[in-house]
Amino acid sequence: MKKEFKVTPWEVKGEVDYERLIKEFGVSKISEKLLEKIKKHTGELNPMLKRGLFFAHRDLNWILDEYEKGNKFFLYTGRGPSGKVHIGHLIPWIFTKWLQDKFNVELYFQFTDDEKYLFSNKSYKEIQKIMEDNMLDVIALGFNPKKTYFLIDTKHAGLIYKQATRVARKITFSMVKSSFGFKDSNNIGSIFYTSVQAVPAFLPSVLKKKNIPCLIPHAIDQDPHFRLTRDILPKLGYYKPASIQCSFIPPLTGIKGKMSSSGNKETVIYTTDSQKEVERKIKKYAFSGGQSTITEHREKGGNPDIDVSFQYLKIFFEPDNKKLEKIERKYRSGELLTSELKEILIEKINTFLKKHQQEREKAKNKIDKFIFKD
Ligand code: TRP
Repeated sequence: MKKEFKVTPWEVKGEVDYERLIKEFGVSKISEKLLEKIKKHTGELNPMLKRGLFFAHRDLNWILDEYEKGNKFFLYTGRGPSGKVHIGHLIPWIFTKWLQDKFNVELYFQFTDDEKYLFSNKSYKEIQKIMEDNMLDVIALGFNPKKTYFLIDTKHAGLIYKQATRVARKITFSMVKSSFGFKDSNNIGSIFYTSVQAVPAFLPSVLKKKNIPCLIPHAIDQDPHFRLTRDILPKLGYYKPASIQCSFIPPLTGIKGKMSSSGNKETVIYTTDSQKEVERKIKKYAFSGGQSTITEHREKGGNPDIDVSFQYLKIFFEPDNKKLEKIERKYRSGELLTSELKEILIEKINTFLKKHQQEREKAKNKIDKFIFKD
């Protein structure tokens, strides 16, 4: 029997089967050949590509062909300011920065305060506070301030609204019902919202009065938005946006889910967590692929494939292949204990967060530089 799972932009439930998702969403897997093509331009491959965190795409071949012809793309990604940022959010943004650096391109970063207002019970006041705080995390990652533009849906409404209505006129209620599973009881703002998320994919083309290809790095749950966007934009005379998609960063408690604050806050590592907090959470919650006693572990070894600490090292925190392989080998053989593996991860995360938190402080004076000026 097929296991049930659900992936929409607002809900991820059950054990996600990515192979099935690729088929259901109609996205393409990133092939070895495509990796080679990327490498031609970037010189090296980001571990998130090599190790398969970014695993699917739409029209990435085309975007690279255009780039090779001198038709540069811009990047577009975003954040719905619903709460504090955790390390699961950072990882696709770090990848986006890598793309920005390697291809030397502009990035439009959308903050969807309207979305989070429409899809939650929070007040605009709360959301504005969260959004400003979230911006610090984005800036702290070191995006190029000369090439990065924050679009805030309510602040830049004068610019965005007109374009959103152009998209909205081409989308029917039945299209959003089938794309997102909306019911008659959904508020009417949520039904309109997808047309707002479509706008940054062509806004630069509008502003610069020429067609510019767009590449969207995002987690696969956002694909339904961009599937619609891709249907509509050619009807308005723009390119379909291309995308490069990652799987979810698992919560501490198991590799099958998605790190999410709407679940248990204890199973999430926030960017503002103290070193002690990180240590406590990992020791207490990080799901282990090890055996239940040391004797048994030495005998049978651990299973890194289901071990969350190992998976975090693989996703991001140990970029060095040789070091990662050594950890894997020692863990499988039972030489390395779960507690020792966790120590490695704690040290890596804390080193990363220490720098991130310093940059976050410095970012407080930089917000204005990043906000798009029309
Ligand atoms: N809807 C996204 C969220 O809830 C935010 C977002 C807007 C986004 N535009 C995007 C994410 C483009 C990825 C790419 O977080």
